[in-house]
Amino acid sequence: MSKLFAKKQLSVLMAEAGESEKGLKRTLGAGSLIALGIGAIIGAGLFVRTAAAAGQHAGPAVTISFIIAAIGCALAGLCYAEFASMIPIAGSAYTYSYATLGEFIAWIIGWDLVLEYALGAATVAIGWSQYLNKLLTNVFHVTIPYQWCHSPFETSDAGVQGIMNVPSIFILLALTLLLIRGTQGSAIVNNIIVITKVAIVLLFIFLGWKFINPVNHTPFTIPATAGTVTMHNGQEVNYANFWNHGWAGVLRGAGVVFFAFIGFDAVSTAAQETKNPKRNMPIGILVSLAICTLLYILFSYVLTGIAPFQDFLKAGGEASVAYAIDTYMPGYGWLSTFITVAILAGFSSVILVMLLGQTRVFYSMSNDGLVPSVFAKLHPKYRTPYRSQWMFFVFVSLFAAFIPDNVVGDMTSIGTLFAFVLVCIGIIVMRKTNPELPRAFKTPMVPFIPLLGAAFCLTMIVSLGWENWGRLFVWLGLGFIVYFGYSVKHSKARKMIK
Ligand code: ALA
Repeated sequence: MSKLFAKKQLSVLMAEAGESEKGLKRTLGAGSLIALGIGAIIGAGLFVRTAAAAGQHAGPAVTISFIIAAIGCALAGLCYAEFASMIPIAGSAYTYSYATLGEFIAWIIGWDLVLEYALGAATVAIGWSQYLNKLLTNVFHVTIPYQWCHSPFETSDAGVQGIMNVPSIFILLALTLLLIRGTQGSAIVNNIIVITKVAIVLLFIFLGWKFINPVNHTPFTIPATAGTVTMHNGQEVNYANFWNHGWAGVLRGAGVVFFAFIGFDAVSTAAQETKNPKRNMPIGILVSLAICTLLYILFSYVLTGIAPFQDFLKAGGEASVAYAIDTYMPGYGWLSTFITVAILAGFSSVILVMLLGQTRVFYSMSNDGLVPSVFAKLHPKYRTPYRSQWMFFVFVSLFAAFIPDNVVGDMTSIGTLFAFVLVCIGIIVMRKTNPELPRAFKTPMVPFIPLLGAAFCLTMIVSLGWENWGRLFVWLGLGFIVYFGYSVKHSKARKMIK
């Protein structure tokens, strides 16, 4: 039993962090980290999930959903920042929990983070495919046939059933190749993309503002009497359902748009590649989160002001921002094209960080003996975990190609929220078990802030509904099989206890 809660000694962790000089390269500063954070944060959550949340659950009050999600993230972010500044080593929440809550909980988190990073990458790749199609249609007047850019679980208005999403596999392949070449080159590309991404969000807010139709903002939440709508992918939505209208809808919307904030914690997974991580980590996490929150609230206010929320269930359900501009902002075709191009680049940077985060978590888990050593095998020249990168390419592609975006998107949200809850609790435990350790950044008002953070995240988990809880349980169940079938026999921490 005690082995189940075997802890990794902090001294061992620190020694390994020192060792890492020989492994992964330390190249990132505070600026790069903020860019990495924003690069990871602004993506399909804003340009795809906002419309889904507004259309299906929250209506114009999706702005409030963003505020609820942001509060949960800020509270959890403060906990992340303390951990990241104290334990400057790759692995994110997984590593932190190994030192505080023991191996079993660490395993759960590491396994759960696959939902965040791998399925997050899949969701964004699907969004990428939607905007690619928009670009091809608007500029080159060619359209990828419906069946080759949709999952088998989706059917078009014309009755065409999806087969597989090919463009999403294409972008995943391109980025996997880039990552194998090394993080430094990728960070430079990322910086350029981040600037473009922030620029288009600001442009949409400024230019779209005068197209806001106040009628679209009233009533602010969806009324229960709004009826039933068949979505663009054949799915039916009944607004009378508890989670599809009123303030419950706003809460569910928070669970959905929470996706838009995922990624600021990915910054902490790059700790091993960061210069002066004790100072730069908390800055990277909190500053990127703050900038994005402000942008999201304004953006969603404009988007739901331009188009009626029901549109986002129909034609506006795909490439929603380009749709809103094309339909409701006459004369701004150039903006739609420009934004679409920038979104394609922007989504790429999100996928990049997600794939990077995923392989780095498994790199740490592999070094600890919890997953096979192949996940820590570095490329002889580029010093990147290239085999792991290839395996995750296959794994992520399967989801991107064959599962609809709202399913993978919500699974990403619930997996990440669950990890956040454990991180919040971890901070309280860590203060009790290791009060003496130096912390470059301290979470204020412990245990109040961590408890409130956990409560916010749990509420969003509840709002995501039983299908998503079920998927989370199935994934964790698979994790237990791997843990008891493989990890317990190979764990290095357990061997030290003998
Ligand atoms: N936050 C990231 C996005 O919105 C995952 O795409």
